[in-house]
This record gives sequence, C-alpha cells and structure tokens, in this order.
Amino acid sequence: MIYLKGSGSLKEALGAYPLTEDLNGATCVVLELPENRSELAALPEGVPVWVVITGMLSLAEMKEIQAVGAKPVALSQLTAELSQYTESQRNPAVAIFEDDLYLKGPEMAGESSRQLAVGRKTRKNSQCHVAISFSTAGGVGKTFLSLNLAVCTALKGIDAVALDLDLRSSELDFAAGLVDPENRKKVIDKKARVPRDGWMTLANWRGFPRDNLKESILRHSSGLYVVPAYPTINTEIPGHEIEELICTLTESFDLVMIDGGLDFAQPHIRTALTLADTIFLVADQEIKSLGKVREFLALAGPNLKQKSKLVINMVNPQGYFAPDEVASRLQYNEYASIRMDRQGVNTARRSRRATVQMKGSPAGEDVWQIAYQQLPFSFSGANRPDSRASLWGRLKTLLCIWKGKRRIKA
Ligand SMILES: Nc1ncnc2c1ncn2[C@@H]1O[C@H](COP(=O)(O)OP(=O)(O)OP(=O)(O)O)[C@@H](O)[C@H]1O
Ligand SMILES: [Mg+2]
Repeated sequence: MIYLKGSGSLKEALGAYPLTEDLNGATCVVLELPENRSELAALPEGVPVWVVITGMLSLAEMKEIQAVGAKPVALSQLTAELSQYTESQRNPAVAIFEDDLYLKGPEMAGESSRQLAVGRKTRKNSQCHVAISFSTAGGVGKTFLSLNLAVCTALKGIDAVALDLDLRSSELDFAAGLVDPENRKKVIDKKARVPRDGWMTLANWRGFPRDNLKESILRHSSGLYVVPAYPTINTEIPGHEIEELICTLTESFDLVMIDGGLDFAQPHIRTALTLADTIFLVADQEIKSLGKVREFLALAGPNLKQKSKLVINMVNPQGYFAPDEVASRLQYNEYASIRMDRQGVNTARRSRRATVQMKGSPAGEDVWQIAYQQLPFSFSGANRPDSRASLWGRLKTLLCIWKGKRRIKA
C-alpha cells in the first residue's frame, strides 16, 4: 500500500497501485516536492520513501531529503522503481543482489544504469581480474586474505592494487605494515614508495589525475599498490561511485583485490560483489560465523554463489567444526583452507611484511596455493625486478654464479 502525496498527474501515473491514506499502514511512501515538504518530518521509520521533485529546492530542503533517506526519482522512472520494490518484497532472496536498484544514482536513471547493472561488461579493461575478500562474519581473515593474495600477485611482477572498502574497520594499510596505526599519514615501511604530494585514498581519489594513476598510489615494498579507506568515511558511498573507482583501477592494473568488509547491506559493497570476477568467501570453523555466512548465502542469489570460492581460515584441530563440515554446511563441494599460524602472522607484522613473504609460514604457503589455483595469472615469472630488494637479490645471484664458476675452475 502506497501513501501518496502529490499532484493529479502523479496520482494518475500510480493508478494501478493500491493507495492508502493511512501513513502508518503504508508499505512505502511517494511524495511530490517541494509542495509536500512538511510530510518529510512525519515519516515513520523503516518505510522506503521516493520523492518526485517538480520544483526548485533549497540546499536545506535537499539535506532534509537526504536525512530521511528518501530517494529522488524522475516521474518516468517511478513505476519501474515501485515494481522492482514490490517484486523484491515478494522474493527478497533474489532481489538483494539481482536487481540493479542500488547502482542507480538519481543522475543514472534509465538505460545507462541497466548497462551498469551487468557490471563487468562496462569495465574498460576486461583483462583485469577483480576479486573481493568478503564475509558477513567479523575477524575471520578478510583483510589478511585480500592483502596476502594481492602481495603474492605483486611479488610475481603482476600489476596489483589492493582496495580497502571496509569503512567499518578499515585497516588494510596497517595490515600491510605501511603506515603507523596511530597516525596513518606517517609511512613506516622504509621500502614503500610514497607519492610526493599525498596518496590516493577512498575518500580523495577523484582529486588525482587518472592518466598516471600509479604515481598517486602508495606502494608497499612487495610492489603492491594500496588504496586505503581513510579518512574514515562513515556515510554510505553510492554504488555508482564505487563502480567508477573500480573501473578506473581496472584501466591501470591486472588485479584489483578488494577488502570487502562484512556489511553486504551497504550499496558500495553490493556493487563491488556484483562487479567482482571472484568472491573469496571467508569463514572459520566457529559456529557463530558459520551462521552468519549461511545467512548471507541465503540472500545472495545464485550468481554470487557461483563466482564465490570458499576459504576456511585459521584452521586448527580445536575448531568447532572440521573444515569438511564447514563446507558441507555451506553447501560447497570444494574449498581452500589456510592453517592457523600465529607465529607466521606475527613475525610478518613485526617485520612490516605480508605473511606470504615469510619463508616457512604455513599460512603463507596456503595463501600461495590459493593464489596459484584461484587467480587467473601465470605465476611462473620472476619476482618484480624493480624493487631495491630484488636488485640486491640479483647482485647476490650474480655473486653466487661467479663464486660457482670459480669453484668449478678450481
Ligand atoms: N591464518 C591465520 N593464522 C593466524 N592469524 C591469522 C590468520 N588469518 C588472520 N589472522 C589474524 O587474525 C586477525 C583477524 O584477521 P583480519 O583482520 O584479517 O580479519 P577480518 O575478517 O578482516 O576482520 P574484520 O571483520 O575486523 O575486518 C588479525 O590479527 C590477523 O592477522
Ligand atoms: Mg578486516
């Protein structure tokens, strides 16, 4: 039932929908503004509101619309929006991800948003692989996995960027050992490459020239480029904004690896999940996180599930469920696992490197396996040649060869 306040033409456009005069009994609200502005103050919580703007609005009025979470929509698009909403109410499991409502900004109505909805096809560089590490459970290793997979790729000389989209606990740059956790503007990784005039973050990326993007991105000693999510943006980022950022990154990189956090209700996370080629769905062996991941899978719909790979992290014999049981409860036939490895993870942290850079680390070895098996790159190439470390490595190799020759001669 729609609570509608507007002109005759609006009422006519919605003639096919059931209307109600009772605001509290309404399932959604449509208001024509600015005439019915006073109604904004009395809206009940949790009810979706669309506003059709047919006159000039002041900045204060625009802010008021934003504050109540109302969605501006063109009259020509209103019935399409309402039909999609009604359908989503009838069949929520499909609607959460398989409609494209969330990708539409007010300026992106109509056909262009439909193209965006298919996501991958609009990416300029179809060669670039977009992967996201995601889980609805907290603390299971999403950041750990995204960072370490991206470092594996970078160490093999492939252009990789790690993008932090976890606004709730954005920590990719700490996890990489790049910056001081107390002061994120202070780079503590001595081998990092730091752009002279500040570096790109999720908050300021539009301020940097796009033609030479890499020059504006912080670069870890492994060769991995990192786009942190600070200064903390605690408001929602619209889906189309993130679509644009991801597309921009795909133009310069072969891998965009996203730390997706856990909140799939956020439009930017849903957009990233939709755009990704591979979703690494991270779980551990605990009953609580299993429940949360199951909840997500029930809502995700088949498209997302199809491109997801289950990764069971921090595997240890004391875990509540055995890894096979975790997989079968989540209805995956296959899964990858990463062993619990506090020592490897902590040593890496102390030396400001990723766990995959630690020789003999069980967790590091497991992530390398995942990178080899699940990422679409040939990892046979040599390590990145342009870092200081590998220059030294090459000198050492030359020295060894020279010593070897001397030994043979002797
Ligand atoms: N295989 C592992 N062995 C040991 N420690 C690990 C392993 N994987 C991750 N950790 C550690 O567990 C902690 C949680 O991992 P991480 O921060 O990556 O989880 P998250 O899912 O990103 O958490 P959040 O939900 O807060 O974003 C970190 O201290 C990380 O270093
Ligand atoms: Mg995290």
